[in-house]
Amino acid sequence: MRVLVIGNGGREHALVWRLHQSESVWKIFCASGNPGIDQIAEPVAIAPTDIPALTSFAMEKKVDLTIVGPEDPLAAGIVDEFTKAGLKIFGPTRAAAQLESSKSFAKTIMRAAGVSTAEFAVFDAAGAAWEYAGSRQGRVVVKADGLALGKGVTVCRELAAARAAISDVLESRKFGAAGSRVVIEELLTGEELSFFALCDGENAIALGTAQDHKPIFDNDEGPNTGGMGAYTPVSQFGAEIEERIMREIVRPTLAEMKSRGMPYRGVLYAGLMIDGDRIKVIEFNARFGDPECEALMMRFEGDLAQALLAAAEGDVSKAKVRLSPRSAATIVMASGGYPVEYKKGLPIAGIDQIEGSAPSNVKVRWAMNRIRVKVFHAGTALSDGVLVTDGGRVLAVTAMAPDLQTAVAAAYEAAEMIEFEGRHFRRDIARRALSRMPTTSGSV
Ligand code: AMP
Ligand code: GLY
Repeated sequence: MRVLVIGNGGREHALVWRLHQSESVWKIFCASGNPGIDQIAEPVAIAPTDIPALTSFAMEKKVDLTIVGPEDPLAAGIVDEFTKAGLKIFGPTRAAAQLESSKSFAKTIMRAAGVSTAEFAVFDAAGAAWEYAGSRQGRVVVKADGLALGKGVTVCRELAAARAAISDVLESRKFGAAGSRVVIEELLTGEELSFFALCDGENAIALGTAQDHKPIFDNDEGPNTGGMGAYTPVSQFGAEIEERIMREIVRPTLAEMKSRGMPYRGVLYAGLMIDGDRIKVIEFNARFGDPECEALMMRFEGDLAQALLAAAEGDVSKAKVRLSPRSAATIVMASGGYPVEYKKGLPIAGIDQIEGSAPSNVKVRWAMNRIRVKVFHAGTALSDGVLVTDGGRVLAVTAMAPDLQTAVAAAYEAAEMIEFEGRHFRRDIARRALSRMPTTSGSV
């Protein structure tokens, strides 16, 4: 197969890396790529949202399967356009992608499908929104309705904060057009879980669980980011919970979407809150999570291209999906100042100690302990041949090992080997999960 991957971050690097190991793939293009991706895929200088140019490119190069990483092209209808042109593409149509691109649409579907989610109401005027927040003593979550790069959500525990958040969305229009309406939800408590399902419009198979870490600082302090680290699997939630999620959430959602004439194909990413027996949906996304995808792809065994093609063609039962029972952890290395203001163009050193061919004690030790380490590029660029920072999230340093503690320790060991001015990463990825585990093996 000739495949085209759309996107240029850590998630897309992980997808390209795994596709590169797919037996069915003999050529990979990536629009627009990054210095990590460009080592294994041919870069295509077309922006991920330039749908007409991408369609022409895929036709001209006779691409057999296109895989969409980020949400923007999906919400803009890339799948509709490719399908019209007779091209195969993995992802939901514009209508189906509303599960992510419109929070109020997602709520309507969940309500109709009987899927459990936070109580909510939708407002386009601040007065009524304040009243609703007041009726819940300010313990609410205020969300801009549209896509806001994961930043349009404010978790509030008191009325003053809720009123300020509502004003930011509806009055100051802090999120632009994404904030012409506001969704206000009940504040849920419990443990968050990201769940991924490979969907073909009718049926689905589970693709695993992960936990993300959204706030910028340790102990979940500071503003939310796109995600600062992840691990998989979340062993606290085993097969029984996965089966419940498929039965109570994924399948009813697919049935509801199909009955409305917008069958959902692609990855359905359910952001869940689990509290004892109760599983509630926080949100749906129409794509793989980033950085969850980096950790998940380490564990993916089998032919990724074949599996995604099966879903795109409407028969997920043909997908051969197997996930390694080993654990994987991803540490995101960010630019100092992210998610607010940060510099770009700073030289990055040390990746060759991890990925270069020169032998070293660390690499031998990793190999002896069945540890695999991979540095995915998220926001990097080449400047006169030197690798430099080029985004808020710069690298997604990922390790897989027989147990979570070892994977986390190895990912941190690798992250410490990489330097750039102002680098920042959370030091507590998976800490809560590890504190619940009895084992204390896992030194590397
Ligand atoms: P979202 O962009 O909808 O994923 O929200 C970002 C983060 O806000 C989530 O990962 C949760 O940590 C938090 N969040 C969103 N909605 C709720 C809710 N109803 N209750 C508690 N936390 C929430
Ligand atoms: N890691 C969260 C997201 O991709 O939305």
